[in-house]
Amino acid sequence: MAKDFSTMEDSNRSSNPSIHEVSDPARRTLLRGGALAALAPVLGPLAACAGAGALTAARGPLLGFKPVAPSTADQLVVPEGYVATPFMPWGEPIGVAGAAMPAFRDDAGNSAAEQALQMGMHHDGMHYVALDGSRRGLLVTNHEYVDDGLLHPGGLENWTAEKVAKSQAAHGLSVVEIEQRDGRWHPVRPSRYARRITATTPFAIGGPAAGHPLMRTAADPEGRRVLGTMNNCASGLTPWGTVLAGEENFNDYFRTADEPTAHERRWGLRKANWYRWHEHDERFDTVRHPNEPHRFGWVVEIDPLDPSSTPVKRTALGRAVHEGAWVAVTKDQRAVVYSGEDAVFEYVYRFVSRDRIQPGGAKANAELLDHGTLYVARFDAGGRGRWLPLVHGQGPLTAANGFADQGEVLIKARQASDLLGATKMDRPEWLAIDTRDRWVYCTLTNNTARGRPDRPGPDAANPRANNTMGQIIRWREDGDFDGQAFEWNHLLLAGDPANERPEARGNLVGEIFGSPDGITFDARGVLWVQTDVSTYALNTGENARFGNNQMLACDVATGEARRFLVGPVNCEITGCTFAPDGRTMFVNVQHPGEMPRGRNDPALPRRNSNWPDFKPNGRPRSATVVIRRLDGGPIGS
Ligand code: FEO
Ligand code: CA
Ligand code: CA
Repeated sequence: MAKDFSTMEDSNRSSNPSIHEVSDPARRTLLRGGALAALAPVLGPLAACAGAGALTAARGPLLGFKPVAPSTADQLVVPEGYVATPFMPWGEPIGVAGAAMPAFRDDAGNSAAEQALQMGMHHDGMHYVALDGSRRGLLVTNHEYVDDGLLHPGGLENWTAEKVAKSQAAHGLSVVEIEQRDGRWHPVRPSRYARRITATTPFAIGGPAAGHPLMRTAADPEGRRVLGTMNNCASGLTPWGTVLAGEENFNDYFRTADEPTAHERRWGLRKANWYRWHEHDERFDTVRHPNEPHRFGWVVEIDPLDPSSTPVKRTALGRAVHEGAWVAVTKDQRAVVYSGEDAVFEYVYRFVSRDRIQPGGAKANAELLDHGTLYVARFDAGGRGRWLPLVHGQGPLTAANGFADQGEVLIKARQASDLLGATKMDRPEWLAIDTRDRWVYCTLTNNTARGRPDRPGPDAANPRANNTMGQIIRWREDGDFDGQAFEWNHLLLAGDPANERPEARGNLVGEIFGSPDGITFDARGVLWVQTDVSTYALNTGENARFGNNQMLACDVATGEARRFLVGPVNCEITGCTFAPDGRTMFVNVQHPGEMPRGRNDPALPRRNSNWPDFKPNGRPRSATVVIRRLDGGPIGS
């Protein structure tokens, strides 16, 4: 989601100190002095990138395509020798077996019931799940949010229960079976796998918060069954074949009383409400249903191979504005799940399972993510850090401090992390795990509030005030993925060397870009970096030279980033995934034509973009793009 800093959640007023205040007096002095010299250690070209250098020599150059130039056109640009084909846009019927396949209506006139059988809006995180290698598979796609100005004829006019139902049906995930024939990818319709999960699909609750008093509502007095998921941003695949999707900005769906409680404020809940679901679905009104928000903000687990399975909210992984969740495996086969919380000054989390992954797929690991230990990250100066356990009864996480039990620690993971002294980060978005050398990468997309008079200042991990550009941090635990301490450094600080403001210049090698968001490693070890400059900031000010949002290929051994793709007007690029042979890339174009700071005008749906259909009476639609090389070779090489 492209976030607007004028309305962005900014809830962390905790007093846990920034690391430069507690552990690096020399650095504090320099930063307070405002001297550019203080930035030299972090802005030097890849100054701290020890650890990955040996890789390049071993494998030779990774990036073999000619970079594309920045573009502001309403088109998708890929390098010479590549072809990109839009695929499964919003509103395309997914082919649920035994159900209708309603065609998309260019006037947005599809009903809520039809939308529930079509691709949702605003494609985001995505994975290819192989059924038959690179010939046939499932594409599992998150649909993060909606633009009601494009979703309905008339937009928000005559706001009805039917419009709320359509908005809810356009959220969630889709599972689509696809196959490759004659060198092209096609949806398989009907398919026994095809499935929509929406904001009204029943979910089970797993882990320590299941049944907790704070999870009980009038509709669910047991606190074990929730309707729906929403704002599913990024996702990760598990080794046992399931998909983990984050529930990101759930706070935007609830309306509070005039004055939110302190607990609600800490979670960004407020009276102003963007989606207006509460007007026709009272569970989104916290005055009437104060516990309903506790049932969102989880990592949800979905088994795409079993369309009859009930998805589960995994509370042991903690409640947060979860961007997504990504799994590593320890040498003794335990699952380690990393997750970040995309809000300014929020935290990075890690869960380590108690039990080992079992052979036998989803059913054999149905409770694996319900038992284990959750940690939050503290990045210390000097390139070291620690994982701090969120365990009830340990340290300050006691009843005296408002945590009755482990369930409450997890439901109030932000407050627990505040007390533990976790490091306040610059909007942690996606993570990617380099299984070759165990470095874990995390995008910190930007944070223009960093260093304001009433907000935390720069620290070693988040070194720039008014951070318009973002950075990619990486760490490696001592020993194995479950190590309690870690080393860390920055892969890169994004920016533009021509910028007048030294803090915005970054230390990039190769192409310039800002606001890294999605990242994923391909099988060759290329880190694909997708950008999400907020729509109101695109192609203006410090972002003036970047062009539209884009995707770059990065060699983490050298730090070189090479621009591979540029999206159409006012989109973000996200959700990159590959067929196993590396010869097809699937990537998502989200919210083409988005209005800066708002919704589209339903009377002028084509004002900004008409991608990808370019129909005279159409409208812009989020879509997947299938990318191949004309010679059929591996993508990026
Ligand atoms: Fe959904 Fe943090 O982007
Ligand atoms: Ca983003
Ligand atoms: Ca994102």
